[in-house]
Amino acid sequence: MNKPQRDITLRFLAEPQDVNFGGKVHGGAVMKWIDLAAYACAAGWSGRYCVTAYAGGIKFVAPIHVGSLVEVSAKVVYTGTSSMHIALEVNACDPKSLIRRKTTHCIVIMVAVDETGQKISIPDWVPETEADKEQHAAAVKLMEMRKQIGNEMEIFAINT
Ligand SMILES: CC(C)(COP(=O)(O)OP(=O)(O)OC[C@H]1O[C@@H](n2cnc3c(N)ncnc32)[C@H](O)[C@@H]1OP(=O)(O)O)[C@@H](O)C(=O)NCCC(=O)NCCS
Repeated sequence: MNKPQRDITLRFLAEPQDVNFGGKVHGGAVMKWIDLAAYACAAGWSGRYCVTAYAGGIKFVAPIHVGSLVEVSAKVVYTGTSSMHIALEVNACDPKSLIRRKTTHCIVIMVAVDETGQKISIPDWVPETEADKEQHAAAVKLMEMRKQIGNEMEIFAINT
């Protein structure tokens, strides 16, 4: 296998089928792109098939218009035993002006699995730069916060 690749950027045009009744790209379409980029990033790091375990902290900062050039950037910011925490950012621009603006960001956790769907271990990512260390520390802090949010969310269970 090649050296693990920590980050990836998908680039494509927003097409008419991605647009909602208001003429902007569906939030669901953006989430699908995010999931695709997270998968490609996790597969590139682990060299394995991966599944999505968690997606959160998604913020839609600005709408995306049909015909925009979209960039979905993903990078590993923390690795556990089998999980990869991936920070994602979506930027878009008119392909004629190329003035990019951030439209969405979030965190996705992907887990590497074997042929039977069981989790498997992945290469460790060790932060080196100050920026990487800060993001790694933030990912650890978010893990604690997610535990608390998970407990609070139980009140909203609908069919259990
Ligand atoms: C994700 C999955 C493989 C985890 O398997 P599991 O046997 O339950 O294993 P664990 O609970 O030990 O979790 C494995 C890792 O994922 C992490 N993880 C699992 N669920 C998580 C969640 N909701 N949030 C954050 N991390 C999570 C664990 O912390 C653990 O990390 P580590 O190995 O780095 O310490 C399993 O729950 C699964 O297959 N879920 C469905 C995935 C899916 O269908 N996704 C959508 C389509 S791809």
